[in-house]
Amino acid sequence: MSETETAHKAWNETWKSADGRAIWSEPEDEVRELTATLRDRGAETALDLGCGVGRHAAYLASQGFSTWALDGSETGIEHARGLTGEAGLDVTFDVGLMTGLPYEDVMFDYILSFNVIYHGDKETVIKAVSEIRRTLKPGGIYQGTMLSKRNGYFGKGKEISTDTFIYDDDGSGDEAHPHFYCNAGELVNLFEGFELISLHDLDHSHRRPKHWHWHLVAERLP
Ligand SMILES: C[S@@+](CC[C@H](N)C(=O)[O-])C[C@H]1O[C@@H](n2cnc3c(N)ncnc32)[C@H](O)[C@@H]1O
Repeated sequence: MSETETAHKAWNETWKSADGRAIWSEPEDEVRELTATLRDRGAETALDLGCGVGRHAAYLASQGFSTWALDGSETGIEHARGLTGEAGLDVTFDVGLMTGLPYEDVMFDYILSFNVIYHGDKETVIKAVSEIRRTLKPGGIYQGTMLSKRNGYFGKGKEISTDTFIYDDDGSGDEAHPHFYCNAGELVNLFEGFELISLHDLDHSHRRPKHWHWHLVAERLP
């Protein structure tokens, strides 16, 4: 585990409250929208990496994918297990970290990691991307987000290493933990070994003002 890989501890606290969980209960439209493409490509196995309280893991299992889900937060996994259990959905859960996935090489046709892998410094992100590449099949699809340098938090607080900031506003949010930001060119370099299918910078203003995130879909190259 890298020293900067600590944000899951803040999320563990967030997931303990109903208010904290409330805005993370419905699958994102873009995840639903990719389902038809995944089916066309014959995808069967899916990993929800950093699954939080399980909204996407539950969705993927409901769509017939053999689904695994991992998170660093034990509380998140507990709620995700509850959600899928109540719905009678079969998901294999693991508590673990994105920099050391407990999965075999080339196991997944699809890996989703929504608002997860930028939690840490550049080295942590590089390791997480390499774990995604290792566990994804050649031709498999990665869908995820990264923090954009347009984001209002970029440059705020203390820069602990290149493009990695901690911002301890009131001590309650995960900004007090390292977050890594990149521009489009830097993102393309981080995802060496993948071919981008789409890349959009979107403002998650429903969560906070100027909360820009890159949204990417990419194919793992052989
Ligand atoms: C913003 S939440 C997103 C949750 C989920 N992907 C969703 O869209 O509902 C970020 C999640 O990433 C997890 N996380 C952060 N750093 C992690 C790490 N290094 N390894 C595994 N999980 C991590 C947190 O515990 C948290 O559940």
